[in-house]
Amino acid sequence: MSDPGKAAAGRAAARLVEDGMTVGLGTGSTASCFVEALAARVREEGLTIRGVPTSQAAERLARQSGIPLFPLTETTRPDLTIDGADEADSFLNLIKGGGGALVREKLVAASSGAMIVVADESKLVATLGAFPLPVAIIPTGWETTRARIEKVFPQVPVTLRLAPGGSPTITDDGLHLLDLHFGPTITDPERLQAQLRAVVGVAEVGLFVGIASRMIVGRPDGTTFERTR
Ligand code: 5RP
Repeated sequence: MSDPGKAAAGRAAARLVEDGMTVGLGTGSTASCFVEALAARVREEGLTIRGVPTSQAAERLARQSGIPLFPLTETTRPDLTIDGADEADSFLNLIKGGGGALVREKLVAASSGAMIVVADESKLVATLGAFPLPVAIIPTGWETTRARIEKVFPQVPVTLRLAPGGSPTITDDGLHLLDLHFGPTITDPERLQAQLRAVVGVAEVGLFVGIASRMIVGRPDGTTFERTR
């Protein structure tokens, strides 16, 4: 059974979708609660929507649930994207990518009319960074990219994310993932994002700065509350 807080946030977000909308479908356990609640509305209310998935996993779930899917193009920019987060600060700056889907998640969210985050209370933090920051990098010469990052941030442990068999994780877009262990010290996520993006070999950073405008937080008792920016 899914976590009651995550399920409540997912259900509340599904109620915000209107007939005819194009909707970005997030990745992870909370976003999956949203996709399932949205699919129930499609079945029960005959809601007509177009889904734009943020990962192969989201695509599989939406297809099984009967949500019509479209790739991200100029004509399928979502009106709304609903996605989870690993951490959110009080400005709704986020760390995402715990599930490895940060590149497509950011492409879809940045192309959307609005991004709403769904999460349980554990994701709210005063300062980002206790959750290791995912950074997607080009596989070619990945060790040199890691070394460049370590040179810019010598105090920060950097680990290569491994797949279950022990080989480097390959994302849906064919990238490797580094996790940067800053600790809860990321007070200027915009500057950090710019510093990391400037490193040769970095494809995308799991910081979402100024993208989400609203967050629905689910409590264990099944109630929700919201934060807006
Ligand atoms: C995947 C993500 C997820 O949204 C994030 O990891 C939160 O997942 P969950 O809802 O399972 O806690 O960024 O890349």
